[in-house]
Amino acid sequence: METATHITEFDSFTRYLSAKKTVDDRALNKHVWEAMAAALPAATAAKPLRVLEIGAGIGTMVERLAAQNVLTHAHYTAVDTDPANIAAARQRLGTLPASIHLELVTADAFAFAANAHSTRTWDLLIAHAFLDLVDIPAALPQLLPLLAPGGAYYFTINFDGNTILQPTIDAPFDKHIEALYHRTMDERLTNGKPSGDSQTGRHMFHQLRAAGASILAAGSSDWVVFATANGYPADEAYFLHFIVNTMYGALNGHPELDQERFSRWIAQRHAQIERGELVYIAHQLDFYGRFPTP
Ligand SMILES: C[S@@+](CC[C@H](N)C(=O)[O-])C[C@H]1O[C@@H](n2cnc3c(N)ncnc32)[C@H](O)[C@@H]1O
Repeated sequence: METATHITEFDSFTRYLSAKKTVDDRALNKHVWEAMAAALPAATAAKPLRVLEIGAGIGTMVERLAAQNVLTHAHYTAVDTDPANIAAARQRLGTLPASIHLELVTADAFAFAANAHSTRTWDLLIAHAFLDLVDIPAALPQLLPLLAPGGAYYFTINFDGNTILQPTIDAPFDKHIEALYHRTMDERLTNGKPSGDSQTGRHMFHQLRAAGASILAAGSSDWVVFATANGYPADEAYFLHFIVNTMYGALNGHPELDQERFSRWIAQRHAQIERGELVYIAHQLDFYGRFPTP
């Protein structure tokens, strides 16, 4: 369906995840990445590193870890609920080095965790752009015990309460939209249960500790997307259109928003992307540590 402000062309989630990769490459906190990579146990063909990634999408993190030589010998289990993402991952990841054995699983991460509990463990647990979608106090006690004693977690791109769009269209209206958009994250329910927090990043410090995990490195991983004279890098214009479309979807029909004005605002944001004017910044945090706390 196409309206003046909802653009079906910008609805492909797999293309969005693919376009997000270069944005994430710049954003990932280098200090946290290096701390995680330096602490991994040496892997061999006989004793590969066991990695579990939940909410793995189309597999861009395993590509990144392989490209940066963080993974040498590994058994990598990537879990996602969406079969289309797993199918896209299967296509993308055909060229991984043979020393990385890939296990792609279409499943709910928590159902997977319940099944795996007490039968399998991993050395590294990854959740990238995922934990801000779930109820963390309930999630961590289900996920962290999947680690072998002293195993490492790497939880990245956790949204933390700032969405910045420049140039300003109308400062008070821009602020109002940002606040309502964040509220949709705070009020989101999945199967009747709370699922999301627009300030996930800052809350992770005490939530990780409350769940019995240590925090060995933390730092910001803000998305910063802007165009140069050559336009936006790679497919990042699509990434931006998808984000603006998502904001429209989240707030379309919201009783506290003048809908005509909001539709014009959305159309202006898309037009700013077309002209290479839009700058988008989202504040996020990365964490690495161990479980249980030594
Ligand atoms: C924002 S995307 C991030 C995907 C990937 N980590 C990336 O950054 O490219 C969140 C992913 O979590 C998946 N997801 C959401 N809820 C899930 C659940 N309960 N179990 C497993 N995957 C889930 C979605 O299908 C989606 O692929």
